Amino acid sequence: SSNRSIEKERTLAIIKPDGLFGNHSDRIKQVILDSHFNIAKETVVQLDEESAATFYAEHSSKSFFASLINYMTSGPVLVMVLEKENAVADWRHLIGPTDAREAKITDPQRVPDQLSQNHLLIVSSALSIRAMCGLDLQKNCVHGSDSNKSAEREIAFFFKETSSDEAVANHDEL
Ligand code: TYD
Ligand code: MG
Repeated sequence: SSNRSIEKERTLAIIKPDGLFGNHSDRIKQVILDSHFNIAKETVVQLDEESAATFYAEHSSKSFFASLINYMTSGPVLVMVLEKENAVADWRHLIGPTDAREAKITDPQRVPDQLSQNHLLIVSSALSIRAMCGLDLQKNCVHGSDSNKSAEREIAFFFKETSSDEAVANHDEL
């Protein structure tokens, strides 16, 4: 475009294997659209170990890395480029904390033992996407880029910058 300055900010969103298995993608997309993001690109891919490890390279020395790669390759993921003003920060805000159990607690300081688990889930379901669909620290349903720099790298990782919007060759597009 000759007028890049008016283009919206972009971020990368992923609905992780449990999000797809659990049939949450339609609900998540509705939240995305209701929150005034444009879904500029999307593709469903099955990550292999190598591509998942490359995507999450920053965590390669962490104790949870092998388990994370195992989870992220356990089934297909839905990858989207989201566009709006302030897309990176707004998407991180919308997905909520990394630990979906924390995401389900209205006030993380408060010990929720006076609430039944069902009540807690009902109360918390509107808080964030991870509160709505996530399970725990690993199975947290969605990914969001943590900075503009990460967004740029992650979008390039999944999408060639061409008009055809093809997914890159190192994952099998479904
Ligand atoms: P991280 O980048 O810290 O979280 P976020 O997805 O919120 O940016 O971690 C990447 C993913 O690694 C996270 O979504 C789930 C997984 N993970 C674990 O399985 N265990 C952990 O202790 C952490 C911190 C993350
Ligand atoms: Mg992260």
